[in-house]
Amino acid sequence: MRIIKFEDLDALSEYGALLIAETVNDNNKCTLGLATGSSPIGIYEKLTKLYKEGKVDFSGVNTFNLDEYVGLKENDPQSYRFFMDHHLFDSININKKNTFIPDGSADDLESVCSEYEKLIEEHGGIDLQLLGIGHNGHIGFNEPGTEFSKKTKVVELSSSTRQANKRFFSSIDDVPTYAITMGVETIMKAKKIVMVAYGADKASIIHDAFFKEVTPLIPASILQLHPDFTLLADKEALNNI
Ligand code: F6R
Repeated sequence: MRIIKFEDLDALSEYGALLIAETVNDNNKCTLGLATGSSPIGIYEKLTKLYKEGKVDFSGVNTFNLDEYVGLKENDPQSYRFFMDHHLFDSININKKNTFIPDGSADDLESVCSEYEKLIEEHGGIDLQLLGIGHNGHIGFNEPGTEFSKKTKVVELSSSTRQANKRFFSSIDDVPTYAITMGVETIMKAKKIVMVAYGADKASIIHDAFFKEVTPLIPASILQLHPDFTLLADKEALNNI
């Protein structure tokens, strides 16, 4: 586990974007695992800038997102498909056919999950997985108590996660109750994992996840055991350390 501390979110995002660009420039047909939420937005902005400056070419890249809400159509402004189009895909030269996000609006969610795992394997596995961390230690939507051995699955969101995400919805009642998420096993299979954490409100969970024992009660703690895991954090998120 490597921890890199940054003065601010801008410096962190610049570094994260360069790491991703380097992965793409090493292998222009690489497979990236992507996240939504506030944490990666700065990285997506910097990646867009690198693309516009001609420093990275996404034409052969494949992407798999961590998760999607159940029950939202892809054109719903709260869906993670919409988020990714808006924050990244519409601004770079990626082929949208190569961008995969679980379809939370499908009737047969179980086959969406097994198909997603198959697709990741067919694309050679994930070369670099980007992650954020929930205040309760979730990664993707793998909530506390999750089994480490699980693959892509349907999960019920915890009330703390629904509360945290209600800022994107008009009311708590509009926040979906279920989601599809890559499992911890899927995430741990990525060759390289990069987590972004910023802000004082993440300091306590960063401390518990990476400076204490590995426990399913804090799903992110398993990342301590990954052979190539890097935490990019600003000084506020590392406050307790
Ligand atoms: C997003 C995801 C979540 C977020 C986490 C942190 O695709 O899977 O695990 O990374 O909830 O969210 P932010 O970055 O908004 O604090």
